Amino acid sequence: MSQTSPSTTNASTIEAWNTVLFEKFSRYEHILIEGLGQHGEALFARFPPPRGAGVRVLDIGCGFGDSTVRLGSLVGGGEVVGVDCAQNFVDASSRRAAAAGADRVRFLRRDVQVDDLGGPYDAAYARFGTMFFDSPVAALRNIRRSLAPGGRLVMSVWRKRQDNPCFYIPQQVVEGFIETSDKATDQVTCGPGPFSMASADVLSDQLLAAGFEEPRLLRFDAPLCMGRTVDEAIAFASDIGPAGESLRLARTKAAHLEQEITAALREALRPLEREDGFWATSSTWLVAASVPVAR
Ligand SMILES: C[S@@+](CC[C@H](N)C(=O)[O-])C[C@H]1O[C@@H](n2cnc3c(N)ncnc32)[C@H](O)[C@@H]1O
Repeated sequence: MSQTSPSTTNASTIEAWNTVLFEKFSRYEHILIEGLGQHGEALFARFPPPRGAGVRVLDIGCGFGDSTVRLGSLVGGGEVVGVDCAQNFVDASSRRAAAAGADRVRFLRRDVQVDDLGGPYDAAYARFGTMFFDSPVAALRNIRRSLAPGGRLVMSVWRKRQDNPCFYIPQQVVEGFIETSDKATDQVTCGPGPFSMASADVLSDQLLAAGFEEPRLLRFDAPLCMGRTVDEAIAFASDIGPAGESLRLARTKAAHLEQEITAALREALRPLEREDGFWATSSTWLVAASVPVAR
């Protein structure tokens, strides 16, 4: 399928990322770039991109494009192409790259599961960009096809939610008030969700099924700042991650509970307070898998 063909695959997810989720992520851009950026830096340090003239690197689900610009600074004379299914993220990325004077990066709107990604690439990177596909194996297979033989997919994905209190504490609070049946089913959603690749067993099977070999997973933990003030941390906790998605989908039924939920979040976040803000652990798998040389 060409990149211009209309596709119903991931349609609801793409609409969500281009609208409600883009708006939400934009409100917390500074927190996300810092918090997710530390996992990206660990990823690039453990599994560095290839360098040199002619090297081509793909950045999958590039979001605001900061990881793409960073990769551009690491590949030497090469080129980095950032792809995202949401035009609003592609536009934001292009603005960031232009402001940074990053001339070795460019951005394309692509559904990574089905579109031609413009390979061959020597490596593909994804900082939290692979957990939202309708069909993860089909998407991983499409990524594999865009890589040259011997190329490598490198990605960070959230580990289990219990080890990510930055998202799990708010989720537990919110789920104390909202039933699954309260959530509207006619709304667009983020797709399978941030923890869909948390199982090392499932993820390594998915990578092998998609034609990659020798998957490696390294655990990386780091504190994540949820906000500098309690109000910022509460806003972040009620907007981003599973708690945010539940509250958004149950908005009509949960509206009268807003004050109670805010009070409960305030109480739950209190132990996370430090001098410089509200901090909780975030935990990821840093993943690398290779395309076989002979196929
Ligand atoms: C959690 S955000 C991560 C953004 C960025 N990589 C970062 O670390 O800040 C996930 C990104 O994946 C994109 N995405 C979701 N499904 C996609 C798909 N099928 N094809 C391409 N991008 C997709 C979203 O639009 C979003 O920008």
